[in-house]
Amino acid sequence: MENYDKLRLADSKNVNGKVTWHSPSNLAIIKYWGKHGIQLPNNPSLSMTLTNAISKTTVEYQQRSNYSGGAEVTFEFEGKQLPKFQERIKRYLTSIKPFVPFIEQLQFDIKSENTFPHSSGIASSASAMSALALCITTIEDELFNSLPEIEDFERKASLLARLGSGSASRSIFDSWALWGKTGDVEGSSDEYAIPMKEKVHPTFHSLHDDILIVSSTEKSVSSSDGHALMDTNTYASTRYDEAKRQLFYLLEALKQGDIERFGKIAEQEAMSLHALMMVSNPSYILMEPATLAVIKKVRGYRKDTGAHLYFSLDAGPNVHLLYPDSEAEQINEFIQNELKQYCVNGLIINDKVGPGPIQID
Ligand code: PMV
Repeated sequence: MENYDKLRLADSKNVNGKVTWHSPSNLAIIKYWGKHGIQLPNNPSLSMTLTNAISKTTVEYQQRSNYSGGAEVTFEFEGKQLPKFQERIKRYLTSIKPFVPFIEQLQFDIKSENTFPHSSGIASSASAMSALALCITTIEDELFNSLPEIEDFERKASLLARLGSGSASRSIFDSWALWGKTGDVEGSSDEYAIPMKEKVHPTFHSLHDDILIVSSTEKSVSSSDGHALMDTNTYASTRYDEAKRQLFYLLEALKQGDIERFGKIAEQEAMSLHALMMVSNPSYILMEPATLAVIKKVRGYRKDTGAHLYFSLDAGPNVHLLYPDSEAEQINEFIQNELKQYCVNGLIINDKVGPGPIQID
């Protein structure tokens, strides 16, 4: 491991400052499901970075005169103090101390909010943890001028984000990102994600992802519990091999602009993820009747019209609808007429591949 000891403040310094980042969520097409060690993936994953589902995080920091190992944090989410989240963030910040030793020397006051509705059931850990990791990385660079090259800055931010939530490592990059070591992509790593935009055909630079909110109740099994259940899943090793194979074919499809092959892989991955949940011990189901109704309608519509409309699922019941910008008008009509009825209060979040995080101050 790199030596991070130099990232400590002289006790006389008394620094303070404020950093804000807006960072998006992402949708994995090749899913990360199952991990080992300290947040290391059991297979590589590949995702599209979204535009509209964003966390906005401000971190104010102030040097502490006394410190004793743990991070010192206050946390407000959408104007409210949430002790449970505050504890989680405190644990996270304390856990990244080996990579950013100055963390214990500062008091942090963190405020965060999401652009997507609270009750939408959208996983916010990717946007939230990437926004926080970007703030911490910026603070490191402000205090120590340690990351002047953009590639080094992004790599450090991605590594810190990964330690908070695996999928967050990919949100650091615009367009498309890959996390996890694979012989298919040079420079790939289990420690951090890498940008993939240059390896992806322009068709996929503007791909739509409309998120149909078919249920907004809290998940019965959290992502971390879901990952843990992979350790005893009978199909785990088959799954990891399958993910690696699917990644190879997806990379080809993305490079060539092959939307049909892309769609087939996206749907197989979504179904594999949920199949793994169903055969876990104990078994669980995160899909709802409306999830299946939407999937059937999408398949029927595709068969009838030849439209390039595909679905994906995250670890929850909501359906992500993927389609190229060139077919947006016709597909939107279908969504409004046939699918909106399955959504809670008609809620659909219209998103698409995006420009990645931005620093506000
Ligand atoms: O980053 P986590 O630990 O919340 O896991 C995310 C898992 C999936 O969203 C289901 C897949 C993925 O790769 O994002």
